[in-house]
Amino acid sequence: MAHPGIRGEVWQLQPYGHGAAPPADAIRLHANENPLGPSPLAVEAIVKAAADSNRYPDAGCSKLRSALAKMHEIDENCIVVGNGSDELIHLLGLLFLQPGVSAIAADPSFVRYYAAPPLAGATLHRTPLDVDLKHDLDSMAECFDHATRLVFVANPNNPTGTLVGADDLETLLDRLPDPALLVLDEAYFEYVGAPYSRGLDWVREGRNAMVLRTFSKAYGLAGLRIGVGFARPDIIDAINRAREPFNVGSIAQAAALAALQDQEHLAKTRTLNDEGLRTFHAFCAAYGLRHTDSHANFAFIDLGKDARPIAQAIAHKGVLVRAGLGLDNWIRVNTGLPEQNQAFLDALKEHLE
Ligand SMILES: Cc1ncc(COP(=O)(O)O)c(C=O)c1O
Repeated sequence: MAHPGIRGEVWQLQPYGHGAAPPADAIRLHANENPLGPSPLAVEAIVKAAADSNRYPDAGCSKLRSALAKMHEIDENCIVVGNGSDELIHLLGLLFLQPGVSAIAADPSFVRYYAAPPLAGATLHRTPLDVDLKHDLDSMAECFDHATRLVFVANPNNPTGTLVGADDLETLLDRLPDPALLVLDEAYFEYVGAPYSRGLDWVREGRNAMVLRTFSKAYGLAGLRIGVGFARPDIIDAINRAREPFNVGSIAQAAALAALQDQEHLAKTRTLNDEGLRTFHAFCAAYGLRHTDSHANFAFIDLGKDARPIAQAIAHKGVLVRAGLGLDNWIRVNTGLPEQNQAFLDALKEHLE
């Protein structure tokens, strides 16, 4: 029986990843990780930083924030580093949400947006994506009212990889009620070929927008948990008051700082991903499968039938992908090394007529 002292809202939440860990030799195309691994410069920095593990980390992530401030030409007081962007989403829920107010997120979108509102006893409005599986920003805006506090837009979106343009987002921002914050989650920013976001401009202009980025994807540091938030200094100040003092470990800080210096690794990562997406999309064309216009490091493919048992069968062949992410016929598969992509396609072929 559940402990009677635990808040009832907690039982609306699903635990994450409490099953058995996948086998070590599985081909991992299910978590949108970088198949090349971290930059060698980051690995070197990790080894070096390990020797100082007896020391508490720098609570303010000062070196990393300073490097990010320089890189993005933004004030250091507009930057906070989190234990993954997951932590920053969780903290935004703590700061903005409570019973009587609401958050808005697309459906399907990143699952962590769905956890923060129930945990705070707040209402969550989920607005379906449009026919191209892109954010329907008009229906999001139609949910705006005096109770709106957080509006989450993953751009590119997870699990669809679709992108919304800066002009459309600015219209959404113009319509945002005053006590609300537009959270632009740009976890896959580095994979998008052309400049597409004006999120940091809106932060510099002091608007009600926060940009989230992460070192988990293109920078290949998912295991170290480093996410970054950019927002007005008053918002960052509030997050700093609410967060744990040592939320980002010293090894993670050192790795992220080194990873930022290795733009060559990032370029390699981008090229490999472009090739992978081309391979997946060419396969879809050959087999008549619908897919989204993905700008991230994964493809989202309509198998025309329940994708969940197919994902399970493919997992038995040692290739991990995701299904059941809100659209039952669709499968999400991240790009891997060419031989890993081929292993996925070979396994998938067996399930297509
Ligand atoms: C859109 C989006 N935001 C945030 C995250 C979480 O990133 P992090 O590893 O920085 O917590 C993910 C991870 O899959 C994601 O897809």
